[in-house]
Amino acid sequence: MKNTAQMKSYLPLFFGFAFIVLLIVAGCGSNATGDAGTAQGSAPASTASTPQAGSVAAGSATLIADGQAVFAANGCANCHAVGGQGGSKAPHLTRVGADAEHTPEWLIAHVKNPQVHKPDSRMPGFEGKINDKDLEALGAYLASLK
Ligand code: HEC
Repeated sequence: MKNTAQMKSYLPLFFGFAFIVLLIVAGCGSNATGDAGTAQGSAPASTASTPQAGSVAAGSATLIADGQAVFAANGCANCHAVGGQGGSKAPHLTRVGADAEHTPEWLIAHVKNPQVHKPDSRMPGFEGKINDKDLEALGAYLASLK
């Protein structure tokens, strides 16, 4: 029974040691996660907006195609023909962009309110019916008809 008594006297020492080891491990553990947290938190936001080079040149071809769709969607062809396709109630627009006066701005203004250019125009105004983005495309399309 002497052995058991000896073992019992070592137990507090053992637990004390184990406790210290635990503290060290726990300390290191929390430090490690703390570092990881700051590293993640301070990651720089590298997704700054980059200007799209060449978007203007690519945009004009798309703009003209969009304008053609706007022309088709708004019944312009009921009155106007382009390249022989469309109505005959109004002058054909096959070469409407050939006139130096017919800039996209002039054409947009005409479509919005034809009376600003021709007070006796029988063409209905499209102001408020076609949004600005579509009008810009339509102007580019009409100006391209040469
Ligand atoms: C109800 C028939 C009608 C519709 C629909 C119509 N137009 Fe016209 N448009 C006319 C008439 C008529 C004229 C000629 C009188 C004038 O210049 O305003 C004209 C003139 C024009 C001109 C001027 C041409 C020039 O050489 O001076 C343009 C550009 C034009 N239209 C574009 C359009 C577009 C784009 C649309 C569709 C959004 C459209 N028109 C819808 C009847 C119409």
